Amino acid sequence: MTPVQKRALEDNWPRWGLEYDDGPLDIDAVFGRPGARVLEIGFGMGDSLVEMAEARPDTNFIGIEVHRPGIGKLFHGLENTGVNNVRVYCHDAVEILRDCVADASLDTVQIFFPDPWHKKRHQKRRLVQAPFVGLLVKKLKKGGTLHIATDWEHYAEQMMDVLSAETTLVNSFSAGCFSPRPNDRPLTKFEKRGERLGHGVWDLLFTRT
Ligand SMILES: C[S@@+](CC[C@H](N)C(=O)[O-])C[C@H]1O[C@@H](n2cnc3c(N)ncnc32)[C@H](O)[C@@H]1O
Repeated sequence: MTPVQKRALEDNWPRWGLEYDDGPLDIDAVFGRPGARVLEIGFGMGDSLVEMAEARPDTNFIGIEVHRPGIGKLFHGLENTGVNNVRVYCHDAVEILRDCVADASLDTVQIFFPDPWHKKRHQKRRLVQAPFVGLLVKKLKKGGTLHIATDWEHYAEQMMDVLSAETTLVNSFSAGCFSPRPNDRPLTKFEKRGERLGHGVWDLLFTRT
């Protein structure tokens, strides 16, 4: 963690940090206002969250990330924009979803470039698998959106199989098809790296029925 990230993390955690131990989350109370609710899982260095929070000041964004330098970087970015519409958990996303997020409470869940675990023996560690998606869809409101992007083709195909098999989701673009890159998805560090390496990118957009 750089000194800037450490300082930003320590200074801002009291106002922007959320604690797993506080239990079920009252989202409107935490933000002090109602608003559309977007949850981003594994935001990395926070590039996408800063850009989206600035572009949509009326939306309430919740981020979950276990990498503390990334949270420091996000907070530093938020300080520079002056927005106050992001709150963050530094904890495992599965436990936060299970224990802190109410059912049918989120408008959007986004997961951009989750760790691909490309070695076959590690693929069981991938986040986007049926039990996790089953938990996640319960947290979406009816009509809510699940947006996932990856630059790893094998994982993209696995994601398509898992999301298509989830009976409470429908493909927002066309059954079995990946979506064109939505204009409002910011370019993240991992996507830029993938572009340099010549990787493709696959977006999956599904709606909770
Ligand atoms: C490959 S990075 C992508 C980061 C960012 N979304 C981007 O596009 O640049 C995946 C991120 O997910 C985080 N992550 C992985 N598993 C997680 C979990 N169970 N809960 C919270 N964060 C997790 C990692 O710490 C890592 O920062």
